[in-house]
Amino acid sequence: MVCRGAKNALIMVALSCCLFLLAAPGLPAQAKNSCINCHGLFDPPLGINAEEFAGSIHAQKGLLCTSCHGGDSSSDDMTQAMGKAAGFRGHIERAQIPALCGKCHSDAAYMRGFNPSVRTDQLSQYQTSVHGKMLAKGNSHVAVCIDCHTTHNIHPPNDPRSSVYPANVARTCARCHANAEYMKDYKIPTNQFALYSTSVHHEALAVRGDLSAPTCSTCHGSHGAAPPGVASVERVCSTCHVFQQQLFDSGPHKAAFGAMGFPGCITCHSNHAIQHPSDGSIGTGNTAFCVRCHVEGDAGYTAAAGMHAGLVKLDGEIQRSEEILKRAQVSGVEVGQTAMALTEAQDDLTKARVAIHSARPDAVDQNIQAGLKVTDKTWQAGLAAMKELKYRRQGLVASIVAIVLVLIALAFLIRKIEAPKPGETK
Ligand code: HEC
Ligand code: HEC
Ligand code: HEC
Ligand code: HEC
Ligand code: HEC
Ligand code: HEC
Ligand code: HEC
Ligand code: HEC
Ligand code: HEC
Repeated sequence: MVCRGAKNALIMVALSCCLFLLAAPGLPAQAKNSCINCHGLFDPPLGINAEEFAGSIHAQKGLLCTSCHGGDSSSDDMTQAMGKAAGFRGHIERAQIPALCGKCHSDAAYMRGFNPSVRTDQLSQYQTSVHGKMLAKGNSHVAVCIDCHTTHNIHPPNDPRSSVYPANVARTCARCHANAEYMKDYKIPTNQFALYSTSVHHEALAVRGDLSAPTCSTCHGSHGAAPPGVASVERVCSTCHVFQQQLFDSGPHKAAFGAMGFPGCITCHSNHAIQHPSDGSIGTGNTAFCVRCHVEGDAGYTAAAGMHAGLVKLDGEIQRSEEILKRAQVSGVEVGQTAMALTEAQDDLTKARVAIHSARPDAVDQNIQAGLKVTDKTWQAGLAAMKELKYRRQGLVASIVAIVLVLIALAFLIRKIEAPKPGETK
């Protein structure tokens, strides 16, 4: 009650301020929005940041406070502006929000009038999501439109100010999904954001600005957000990693994982904390994925060891060639052609690393052997370049010695010519 009284007093002070300002002479006349004039003076939750709202897509496209709340924005009189007669709708319950936004956003004819490319399936998609289904059952903890988009500061997704701009999405979802207190009634982990923040995808998107890397909503859907489920995980990854998917499908793991109820890609790579894999991820070492299932003596274990050895061998050969070619180049021997050829071996190594997804040693070995053939040649070429260098150096020393000898001989000759002949006088 005390609280209520204090609140009302504050409101009255603010209100008189507001009315004073409105009555002040000399203020420029502009298209009247009494809602902003008054609510712009309050603190949240009643306060609206007038500048923010003016920058939002809705205000930019000419929508008013009354587009969502009803009422009469031409009147300074609270009771009229926010009157029942003017169709005013005050506080909007969370459960009503999807329908409010959907009233316009599901109306294709209306939306086309503003922007023909904007989709109109958000509400219908939302109703299929875990959020939408739980909201329909009366749970208002789940995300509704304004939790992801904000209420009065909405921007299109390609605007960096938007809460759903790709680089901002993870933080938007994390407001709930990383908040253990908020999520305490649910049986799901709250570590997705923390894990994702360590991932190659986060690094690509947020650190390197590569907008083609996935954030939460890329894998889960934005409006249809749901866990992908075993069957569709691969489809999620393969929208971007097509070759790995094709190779995985062509090999023995596809059926074997299926029988065990394991999803494809994430059984090895995990879902949220995906790291840069390396040649150590395959084989029988303790960083290898393979030893989680394969044990010494089985065919997969033997194959894993073989594939690892092949990758390491080719990688070593490439480095050996690179080093010798660099030494030659620094000393001025022309090795550009050979260095170019070496990139082919690098390509073969990349292909071999992708080919491991088939779990077929022969497919990997094919690329390894092709690469080794190239490194064999580049190594020989490197050796030849070093030989030439040695030869050139020997030649250089020989010519310097020869020149010095000639100079000495010349000096002798000159002295001999200039020396006074016997009997000659100066
Ligand atoms: C002269 C000041 C003034 C004007 C003009 C005004 N409001 Fe309000 N509004 C208030 C005050 C004070 C409250 C809080 C008291 C109350 O709940 O009645 C409020 C409450 C609200 C609420 C919350 C209602 C609730 O149930 O909690 C909304 C939404 C709102 N106003 C929107 C509008 C809109 C839209 C307009 C323009 C059509 C508008 N207001 C015009 C002062 C104003
Ligand atoms: C796109 C629709 C939309 C527009 C346009 C809009 N609002 Fe709102 N507004 C909402 C929704 C939805 C909520 C409920 C948010 C919540 O529950 O947190 C809300 C909440 C509010 C509240 C908080 C009161 C409360 O507790 O519910 C006030 C005050 C308010 N709006 C005033 C305004 C004013 C003033 C404008 C114009 C500057 C405006 N709104 C424009 C959708 C809109
Ligand atoms: C009175 C109709 C109306 C209501 C209600 C409405 N919107 Fe909009 N909204 C629009 C219009 C018109 C646009 C501008 C479309 C454009 O030109 O891109 C828009 C744009 C948007 C955009 C940017 C789309 C884009 O890519 O350009 C988002 C996001 C958005 N609204 C979310 C919401 C949310 C969330 C709500 C509910 C709180 C809501 N809208 C309520 C009419 C409405
Ligand atoms: C769980 C978070 C989340 C919820 C809930 C959500 N959105 Fe979105 N919304 C996004 C994300 C992320 C994007 C950008 C990526 C995309 O377009 O899918 C987006 C994009 C949009 C766009 C722009 C589409 C376009 O084609 O440019 C509109 C409009 C929109 N949402 C409206 C809504 C409406 C209406 C609701 C409620 C029915 C809603 N959103 C609920 C996350 C959400
Ligand atoms: C307002 C808080 C809130 C926001 C914001 C939010 N969520 Fe949720 N989300 C929830 C709650 C609560 C659940 C219900 C938990 C459950 O499934 O039992 C949920 C469920 C989910 C589920 C289903 C989990 C499961 O296995 O049952 C997924 C997936 C999900 N959210 C993804 C997202 C994504 C992606 C975003 C951002 C684009 C997002 N959420 C934003 C509150 C939120
Ligand atoms: C690269 C794709 C990808 C990205 C990015 C991603 N997820 Fe997931 N997420 C998955 C997969 C796959 C699952 C596991 C589904 C299964 O096992 O059925 C999952 C599971 C979940 C679940 C269910 C509970 C759990 O932890 O298993 C929630 C909630 C969730 N993710 C939220 C998020 C949020 C929030 C983000 C962003 C911070 C995010 N996800 C980013 C793919 C992704
Ligand atoms: C929207 C596209 C997209 C989706 C979906 C996607 N990724 Fe990625 N992924 C990328 C991009 C972009 C990179 C960064 C490549 C780079 O580092 O240059 C990447 C990197 C990776 C890497 C590291 C590659 C390296 O060279 O170190 C792995 C492993 C990976 N993703 C696995 C997955 C898995 C598993 C899934 C499904 C759960 C998945 N990705 C879903 C786009 C995607
Ligand atoms: C049996 C374990 C396993 C499975 C299943 C698996 N991967 Fe891999 N993946 C690896 C290993 C090991 C590497 C590292 C290869 C290397 O660098 O030597 C790798 C590397 C990658 C890379 C980095 C680029 C490359 O190919 O070297 C991407 C991207 C990738 N995997 C995506 C996927 C996707 C998408 C799926 C599902 C279709 C998948 N992986 C399934 C083990 C697996
Ligand atoms: C989640 C468990 C799991 C992981 C992790 C795993 N495998 Fe397998 N793999 C299997 C199962 C199950 C089979 C089929 C039964 C069998 O032959 O052992 C199989 C079969 C194979 C085969 C075919 C063997 C044959 O019979 O010809 C090869 C090769 C293979 N795996 C290699 C690998 C390599 C390499 C890795 C690491 C990059 C790996 N596997 C990781 C479970 C796994």
